[in-house]
Amino acid sequence: MLSKRVSHIKPAPTLALTAKVNQLKAQGIDIVGFGAGEPDFDTPDFIKDACIRALKEGKTKYAPSAGIPQLREALADKLLRENGVEYKPSEIVVTAGAKMALFLVMLAILEQGDEVLLPSPYWVTYPEQILLTGAKVVEVPLKEEEGFILTVERLKEYITPKTKMLILNSPSNPTGSVFPEKDLKEIAQLCLEKNILIVSDECYEAFVYDGETFVSPASFSKELREITFTVNAFSKTFSMTGWRVGYVACPERYAKVIADLNSQSISNTTTFAQFGALEALKNPSSKEFIENMKRTFQARRDMAYELLREIPHVSVVKPKGAFYIFPNLGEYSKAMGSDIALAEYLIEKGRVAGVPGSAFGAEGYLRLSYCVSEETIREGIRRLRDALLSLKAV
Ligand SMILES: Cc1ncc(COP(=O)(O)O)c(C=O)c1O
Repeated sequence: MLSKRVSHIKPAPTLALTAKVNQLKAQGIDIVGFGAGEPDFDTPDFIKDACIRALKEGKTKYAPSAGIPQLREALADKLLRENGVEYKPSEIVVTAGAKMALFLVMLAILEQGDEVLLPSPYWVTYPEQILLTGAKVVEVPLKEEEGFILTVERLKEYITPKTKMLILNSPSNPTGSVFPEKDLKEIAQLCLEKNILIVSDECYEAFVYDGETFVSPASFSKELREITFTVNAFSKTFSMTGWRVGYVACPERYAKVIADLNSQSISNTTTFAQFGALEALKNPSSKEFIENMKRTFQARRDMAYELLREIPHVSVVKPKGAFYIFPNLGEYSKAMGSDIALAEYLIEKGRVAGVPGSAFGAEGYLRLSYCVSEETIREGIRRLRDALLSLKAV
């Protein structure tokens, strides 16, 4: 008999799609997969070498549950230098990826009946984690016509006396939108006034295009730092998704509890992986690696955007960050009955795979990740276009 707590739980649709595409590929079927939520770059050798060194030096035992001290110190330096927020190492907890950091924050803070504001479209994992704590998801709809940007006016409509937390994810998965600093400041100020905690998921901070800069809400003021959980990871920035190293920075009274939750669940983030992460922060070559990845993604974004907007009956917002693009295929998905049916049709007939928007709370869209070569993008969008245009009902 399963607990009520897990009765809603679903496997992450993004991972399920990757598995399906890999299965078809293994059968020799040529399919273009736009489903992956991870860079198609390998982890740099200098990071791998540091991890191998750590293994050889016997860094193979339990580590402190909040993370190895050197990494917490390096993260405090990084947060000050790059994000303009002062955190003590004791206010930082190293976790098994950003996913675990988010989950532990929610476990530590949310009670049955609390309301959590979730701008929608949202990353698939947020609602599942919120529901596991017994709290309620309150979706705050973002509009395509407004570039999927959250404004303070929109947010106000959804605040109630039960609102405990707001999730911010800019740059966003799945839309690629980046909230302007002015809006972020107004939103953060409102949270301060209304006693709402902010979770800022900054996983895609390295991928902001067109010369724009990334800002952390915790950097706006001392008061905001006190109500913010800054969550980040090595996964996307250094192409280390499989390493499972992330972190949360927050006031010490919360950090302590989160470290305790770590200690009573996973004990610690894999010890030698933390030494690899430390090298990622310390080695000057990281800068060039990240710059190169960002340049590559920006060029791919430009290409994907231009090709998608030429498809009849498709509208698309130009993403300003992350590595996703989120075209609106509403007319085609209506013709098929749902975006899930459309995504299946695209795989079966078009040999091209993306994740249906409904997984992100946005029926009628398709999330395409451009973590593939420009040649693959061109071929994949050609297939998408052909498959859509051959849908007679439109
Ligand atoms: C918005 C967002 N947050 C968190 C994560 C998870 O990151 P990690 O692999 O570090 O757990 C992802 C991964 O897709 C993501 O898109």
